[in-house]
Amino acid sequence: MEANLSLLDTVGVGDLVLLDPLSEESLLQNLKERFAHQEIYTYIGNVVISVNPYQPLPIYSPQTVEEYRNCNFFAVKPHIYAIADDAYRSLRDRNKDQCILITGESGAGKTEASKQVMSYVAAVCGKGEEVNQVKEQLLQSNPVLEAFGNAKTIRNDNSSRFGKYMDVEFDFKGEPLGGVISNYLLEKSRVVRHIKGERNFHIFYQLLAGGSDQLLRELKLERDCRHYGYLGREDRSLPGVDDAANFRAIQEAMKVIGFSPAEMRALLEVTAMVLKLGNVQLDSQFQASGMESCSIQDTRAVREICELIGLPERVLEQALCSRTVEAKQEKVVMALTVAQGCYGRDALAKNIYNRLFNWLVTRINENIKVDSSERRKVMGVLDIYGFEIFQNNSFEQFVINYCNEKLQQVFIMMTLKEEQDEYVREGIQWTPVDFFDNSIICSLIEDRQAGILAMLDEECLRPGLVTEETFLAKLSQVFGSHKHYESRATQNARHVTDASLAGPCFRVHHYAGKVTYNVLGFVEKNNDLLFRDLSQAMWKAQHELLRSLFPEGDPQKASLRRPPTAGSQFKASVTTLMKNLYSKNPNYIRCIKPNDNKEPGVFTDGLVQTQVRYLGLLENVRVRRAGYAYRQGYKPCLERYKMLCKQTWPKWKGGARDGVQALLTNLHVPTAELAYGHTKIFIRTPRTLFDLEDRRQLRVAELASLIQATYRGWKCRTHYQQMRKSQIAISAWFRGQAQQKRYGQMKSSALLIQAYIRGWKTRKEYKKYFRSGASTTLANFIYRRLVQKFFLGLRTNLPPMVVTDRSWPTAPYKFLANTNEELKKIFYLWKCKKYQDQLTPQRKALLQDKLCASELFKGKKTLYAKSLQQSFQGEYLGLRKNPKYRALHTVAEGKLVLADTVQKVNRANGKTVPRLFLLTKNHVILADPKAAQPKTVVSLSDIQRVSVTRFSDGFFVLHLNEISTVGTKGDFLLVSDHLIELITKLHQTLLETTAKTLKLQVADEFSTQFSKGSIAIRIVETAKNNGVVPVCKKKGSHKMEVLVH
Ligand SMILES: Nc1ncnc2c1ncn2[C@@H]1O[C@H](COP(=O)(O)OP(=O)(O)OP(=O)(O)O)[C@@H](O)[C@H]1O
Ligand SMILES: [Mg+2]
Repeated sequence: MEANLSLLDTVGVGDLVLLDPLSEESLLQNLKERFAHQEIYTYIGNVVISVNPYQPLPIYSPQTVEEYRNCNFFAVKPHIYAIADDAYRSLRDRNKDQCILITGESGAGKTEASKQVMSYVAAVCGKGEEVNQVKEQLLQSNPVLEAFGNAKTIRNDNSSRFGKYMDVEFDFKGEPLGGVISNYLLEKSRVVRHIKGERNFHIFYQLLAGGSDQLLRELKLERDCRHYGYLGREDRSLPGVDDAANFRAIQEAMKVIGFSPAEMRALLEVTAMVLKLGNVQLDSQFQASGMESCSIQDTRAVREICELIGLPERVLEQALCSRTVEAKQEKVVMALTVAQGCYGRDALAKNIYNRLFNWLVTRINENIKVDSSERRKVMGVLDIYGFEIFQNNSFEQFVINYCNEKLQQVFIMMTLKEEQDEYVREGIQWTPVDFFDNSIICSLIEDRQAGILAMLDEECLRPGLVTEETFLAKLSQVFGSHKHYESRATQNARHVTDASLAGPCFRVHHYAGKVTYNVLGFVEKNNDLLFRDLSQAMWKAQHELLRSLFPEGDPQKASLRRPPTAGSQFKASVTTLMKNLYSKNPNYIRCIKPNDNKEPGVFTDGLVQTQVRYLGLLENVRVRRAGYAYRQGYKPCLERYKMLCKQTWPKWKGGARDGVQALLTNLHVPTAELAYGHTKIFIRTPRTLFDLEDRRQLRVAELASLIQATYRGWKCRTHYQQMRKSQIAISAWFRGQAQQKRYGQMKSSALLIQAYIRGWKTRKEYKKYFRSGASTTLANFIYRRLVQKFFLGLRTNLPPMVVTDRSWPTAPYKFLANTNEELKKIFYLWKCKKYQDQLTPQRKALLQDKLCASELFKGKKTLYAKSLQQSFQGEYLGLRKNPKYRALHTVAEGKLVLADTVQKVNRANGKTVPRLFLLTKNHVILADPKAAQPKTVVSLSDIQRVSVTRFSDGFFVLHLNEISTVGTKGDFLLVSDHLIELITKLHQTLLETTAKTLKLQVADEFSTQFSKGSIAIRIVETAKNNGVVPVCKKKGSHKMEVLVH
């Protein structure tokens, strides 16, 4: 009951189906009463009637949106949001493409309604950055298109001068993906002319009012509207409308849609150019032939245009003032009259603007189009120019009204005709409701052969002189008896005189009223011709955008084929539109205009009554009342509601019809509410349907919970099982590891214990045998090991083989100290032996000599140290070589050990004389160097001893035995430069020959024996000087001092 309350409880009735009694007056009264209480929306079933309030109402707030979101259509006050919500939900949940048809005459509020629908859908259809961007783009396309396509008319300050159908595309979740906009026939004649009290398209005023000074300067525009011919040379700012602010808004909107600054700039440049074209004035001239021609009156406008679009002035001037005609494949340039010139100029302006508008739509579409190929659901919103009747109606009004006629036909077909036909088809008892079918008017206009548009085309294409009069005459002839056609001719034929129908006019009785059309301009507008010179000139411009608008201007692509006429183009696009609409689920918003003065709160009965009549609202209510609110094929119906009954859920085995019957009986739906057709079930009131829907929703929620619960249960179970499995796997592995470790430990312990026990047992067993020597054996074993280790260690750690290196590693253990010392010695000796082994015999002999010298002198005589460096040469005289010494050589031959020069000290005075000193194996021979004959020969056995000093001198005394042959002369005091060698050799030879060692005395005092007695020799150390040492000084007869250092 609650559902109905909201419809009854408000002012009047919310749904006209509930109106009682039902008549035109009560219907009007109901609308009026509701309007007076600002209830502007009323339903007829699910059709919304909207009465324009002409004032802002507080019923479009976000709160209201929330209120209507997912609401029950009949549970809330009638509102445009409710129908938008219903359509959106139907699209999202039932997967049905939707279209929203907004109809009504100009100023009835269609555009506003379409915006409200769009903003509602945008508010409820999902959120997210990407979605919001799509929404913004879709919404922002509106102000841009309105700026270029809307204008103030007498009826409406923001009248749509183009038709717009926008398909918004959604994904399966109901989130918007993008859209496509189709536009229909822009009223381009407005660019060059508008009647007094109206305005040109908004954009011109917005640009002039809102463009910055710099922008206007760059576009070469004056801010004052009165400067421009196409703006009627009058300032027509609209009260309550801020053109400047709107200009800023559209710039922002274009940015949001994705226009680049360069594109925006180009767009404005072309717009400015159109405006300037209106200021190009033509002057008439007469050529020499007397023919009229035209020329540019003031070249400023042309110059500015050409600068703006990058075109040589001459080209544009020529295109505006002349025309190239091709006759018999020859090109002839014809001068144009002023009228022709103006016509060409205006045609150019209209064409540019029209093409610019189409470009704008295409460009917006590029940005909002959906790229993905996934299946989409579509919601189309149609906002087309409303039906209009002006004082003077032309071709534009004709096509606009034709379009409205077609929309009315859709409405009639879908809500009145189709519905009633369906009842009959389905075998439902039905009393037909009469209604006016406007198909007859539609075919009057669009019939392929005998339609007004077809005849206009025919007239346009006909060779010969084509005038509107011939066209009108033809119409009057063909439609002489047509109920919906009138002209002077047909009136005359019927003897009717109606002064309101002027000569060049015909009248069509449209569904919404009689409209008188003036045929003037019909042919020209239908032809929509632009002189080729002009399109070619435009193509030559450097301005990219402008150039792209005139592809046919390219001489290479120029085609002689006539472009389709405006009428046939429009008809084709309307046919496509209709096809599109028929393929979708329609939702109607029927807009009503309450008064002609755009005044809030004023409800002009007559005006509304006319609209109620021609909109067929009463018939609509009647059909709705008698009919059924809802119908659906048995199968989809069963599919949709089968979950409401145990018999049909989850599967119904019988036929669909029986299933639906069983279902509805089970649900106790009153039989009066239902009618079973051949293929469909009909439900009378929406309440029953909503009741079913509510129950379904609850049940779906239940089922969803069940599915959720089952799924969650399954998910938790599988998760649990997975966890359990993992846990088992982990613990098995862990236990395995632990056991392995334990086993390893136990095994090693067992082995240890075993070893102990076995050892213990063995020890016990063999104690008696081994006990006494065990420790020694062990110790020996250990020692052996240590020694072995020591030796092995030594092997790798031996000191270098250099003989002088006495280093040796220290013993690692004390007990090895002696051994180590021995080893050190052995190693050293071995090292020396190795060294010795590699010595040559000569070197060996030399070293032996040196060794002998060291034994004799080391630490005893200072000279020894010096001798170390000298090698012992033995033969210093060169006896063999020198012939002078031949005698000596002969004496010593084969036995010579040493030959050298010595100084002999005179015993008497201490002076020295040189002597040759030869040591042979048996003798010491002294010889005079000059004579080179042996002077003294001493047998080695006569040498008693030798005395030397401690110092570094070469002084020595050769003490002889007293019995020696030379003994008579006594001992020899000699000085040798090779003392060490000499004595060493002497010692060695003596030892060799006599097997006696040489007695060597190192002393500071010794006595010498001479024939004349002994002399005591004292060695005196002197300070170092350069004098030759030793110096022997006789001190008295028995003393001699030898000075050495
Ligand atoms: N719901 C509304 N609330 C407030 N004002 C409205 C509403 N609907 C329409 N109007 C007013 O009516 C004017 C005309 O409405 P709109 O432009 O939508 O008419 P239309 O049917 O599109 O006309 P046309 O066929 O000429 O384009 C709007 O500019 C606005 O001032
Ligand atoms: Mg509009």
